[in-house]
Amino acid sequence: MPYLNIITSVSPIKWHKNNLYLLDQRLLPNIKKDIKYNQGVDVAGAIFDMVVRGAPAIGVTAAYGVALSALQYEPDKENGIQKLKADMDVIANSRPTAINLKWAVARMAKCLGGSNINAVLFVAEAEKIHKEAIADDLAMANFGDTLLTEGGVLTHCNAGALATCGVGTALGVIRAGVSSKKITKVYADETRPWLQGSRLTAWELIKDGIDTTLICEGAAASLMAKGELEWIIVGADRVAANGDVANKIGTYSLAILAKYHGVKFMVVAPMSTIDFNTATGDLIPIEQRSENELLEFKGEKLSSEKSRAWNPVFDVTPAKLITALVTNVGIVEQPNEQKIKALLSL
Ligand code: MRU
Repeated sequence: MPYLNIITSVSPIKWHKNNLYLLDQRLLPNIKKDIKYNQGVDVAGAIFDMVVRGAPAIGVTAAYGVALSALQYEPDKENGIQKLKADMDVIANSRPTAINLKWAVARMAKCLGGSNINAVLFVAEAEKIHKEAIADDLAMANFGDTLLTEGGVLTHCNAGALATCGVGTALGVIRAGVSSKKITKVYADETRPWLQGSRLTAWELIKDGIDTTLICEGAAASLMAKGELEWIIVGADRVAANGDVANKIGTYSLAILAKYHGVKFMVVAPMSTIDFNTATGDLIPIEQRSENELLEFKGEKLSSEKSRAWNPVFDVTPAKLITALVTNVGIVEQPNEQKIKALLSL
């Protein structure tokens, strides 16, 4: 099996001369604009506001955020470490569900040693985390491709370059499958309410030359009933020890539909997304975002003034609905705790 060296033209995170540049994903696909950051706490705001989003990408961003704080406080011998730790706390808690955020900050915290801050160490570690995220994507794309069979695929949310910095998790496998010609048709669903599917996934795949057909989420069952799909391929924000998967709201519904229609369901996630400290999916904290994401669009009311909304932005798919979990170190079919630990040799 040849190693597929797939690439992307999309890069949402750049580090240049000790400044962080984030492509503002709130404005895509119409406006492409980078925002420059030089303070760690501002990076926490960028993650919360979803300038950058997607589990691995917010992990990388958090790492650079900590590096910015280290650069900022290095000269402050008296209180520097205290201020840096306070910033790390704010950054680690800027969003609750994706474990990559806490994972990246915990890794950055290991650069603290002695009574001074050595910012060079922090910057180097953040750059390492960034490079690893890119390499992990390529490994997952290649593992995932080995499972594909000829036919159409559907993806949910955006688990692409915009969400990871590399070729993407789910979209990495899709890019590989298009390149190996196993994938004959790519569908992306809109992904309400933030429209990651229509605004981001369709944009980045089409930009990279991959034909993508958009559906509204309500059309997924009909698409499956017509026999158009071989696989549903999604990313993850956190995989619990037992293989349950938290991902964008709507993932669980797709998994149930897939089971009913005999469509295979693939979750693609790097090791940094697997959380052995959370035993089962019901223990994963689910982020609730503003009602306005449902009640308004670009400031225009979409519903009655008196409407209220419930807006959990992730859900949990039980491991028993997952055909395969594809990681950067290998594949776990019908995942469970024992199999995941065996793959990781724990
Ligand atoms: O709220 P978002 O856009 O950060 O949610 C992102 C997702 O749910 C992605 O599917 C997930 O992070 C996997 S990204 C490779």
